Amino acid sequence: MRHPLIAGNWKMYNNVSETMRFFDDFIKLVENLEGVEIAIFPPFTSLWEAAKKTAGTKIKIGAQNVHWEEKGAFTGEISPNMLKEIPCEYVIIGHSERRQHFAESDETVNKKVRAVLKHGIKPVICVGENLKQREENLTLKVVLPQVRKALADVELLSGEEIVFAYEPIWAIGTGKVATPEDAQEVIKSIRKEIETLYNKNIAENIRILYGGSVKPDNIKALMQERDIDGVLVGGASVDPQSFYKICAYK
Ligand code: G3P
Repeated sequence: MRHPLIAGNWKMYNNVSETMRFFDDFIKLVENLEGVEIAIFPPFTSLWEAAKKTAGTKIKIGAQNVHWEEKGAFTGEISPNMLKEIPCEYVIIGHSERRQHFAESDETVNKKVRAVLKHGIKPVICVGENLKQREENLTLKVVLPQVRKALADVELLSGEEIVFAYEPIWAIGTGKVATPEDAQEVIKSIRKEIETLYNKNIAENIRILYGGSVKPDNIKALMQERDIDGVLVGGASVDPQSFYKICAYK
């Protein structure tokens, strides 16, 4: 049985003092929530504070990006072992905003995935098509190669060490959520692809999330689909009340 993961990607929101206020409220709200894993991905500057605030709680912390090198002259970059020390349990890799604005490619995604796995950090690997590709029926032709390339030369033991997030670009921050059936269809195909690359057991263990305009009023229907194991939430994760409502979807 895959354990549902509700993840909040804050993007470039919540500075250190806002982060402290968020957790003061959020920790109390989710205290008695059972049956879901909760992870929050603050900006780098808030990671340390977020980890301190959530130590001893059920909330996990992750970063939004990472570099694949261990150390060196890479101005502005953060290495996997720096994240491990925080400690970050997760890191988002290949978010479409990084692919679009910061030249993230399938090759760099793969390098990052391999680097963080060495440190026992779980990558949340983002894949997804844009509107034009969706309208031209190219969704799987775009998404499945992204999956394959992200996993090139990646050895998996159980599948529990990685997470995928299917985030159709046209649904991100637009209020246009994919229908649960459409999201299920793509996510099922991703799982099938992983089975082809590894085996059924690993494919069944990997959690695959949906992301794109998830809100308190649409999460329930998404989570009812067989292959959707959780959500990656942007806008609605920045505020403790709305993110709590998503976490409490059951
Ligand atoms: O990574 C989360 C994401 O891109 C979705 O953002 O604001 O549509 O929930 P949002």
